[in-house]
Amino acid sequence: MRAIILLGGPGAGKGTLSENLRRRTDFIHVSTGDMLRAALQSGSPVGMKAKSFMESGSLVPDSVVLGIIEERIEAEGAHAHFMFDGFPRTIGQAEGLDFLFTKKNARIRHVFNLVVPHAILISRLTGRRVCRQCGAVYHLINKPPVRPDVCDLDGGGLYQRADDSEATILNRLDVYEKQTAPLIAYYEKQKLIRTINAGEPPEQVAASVLDFLGE
Ligand code: AP5
Repeated sequence: MRAIILLGGPGAGKGTLSENLRRRTDFIHVSTGDMLRAALQSGSPVGMKAKSFMESGSLVPDSVVLGIIEERIEAEGAHAHFMFDGFPRTIGQAEGLDFLFTKKNARIRHVFNLVVPHAILISRLTGRRVCRQCGAVYHLINKPPVRPDVCDLDGGGLYQRADDSEATILNRLDVYEKQTAPLIAYYEKQKLIRTINAGEPPEQVAASVLDFLGE
């Protein structure tokens, strides 16, 4: 078992990059944001615990997040390789992952730090639209659908995520700086940080990461 971690602020392009890598590598995409949104939608106990934190753009407690991650790792079996998107997000989560991986004799191979200027992050998030049916991600300017508000892939309606309002975005950026950015130093100590200029177009960002993966 091995893993890579995609680290980056809200809108850095973690989901877009994951979709690209999923098609070209054998890593299983694990997004805690997607898992928590699914839990919220199904009204499960995890979703109920996460609701208020997600709506305000704050972080869901570490115990909840580590619980769903452990369950997912167990479900995929001993030979799975993981691409973590938006996890870990605190030092506590990183320590929890180290503990889990040590038990399983598993290794983190690379932590890709996706670097994008703040102004670009804000315009990426305010312009993002998502398909209600398949979850495909669009952008009003960078990646518009052929027909306005309609998914090119399955004709589903597009919506704006509730936490992509400007006020919530500012809180998410602040939370990132205070609680998640310290992970850069944490993983630098383990010599795992690979800095990626994620302000480039998606194909170029994916190519930079694939270079490190040797694929
Ligand atoms: P989560 O869903 O993980 O949100 P996030 O980290 O804020 O990241 P985003 O999904 O907003 O952005 P992204 O980097 O994936 O960008 P994307 O590829 O979509 O988390 C949501 C919430 O859940 C959190 O606030 C928290 O409450 C909770 N949560 C989740 N994980 C947690 C954890 N571990 N611990 C505690 N709480 C947790 O791209 C954005 C837009 O830009 C798109 O429109 C896209 O088309 C465009 N774009 C992407 N890449 C490029 C590019 N290279 N060039 C031009 N445009 C691009």
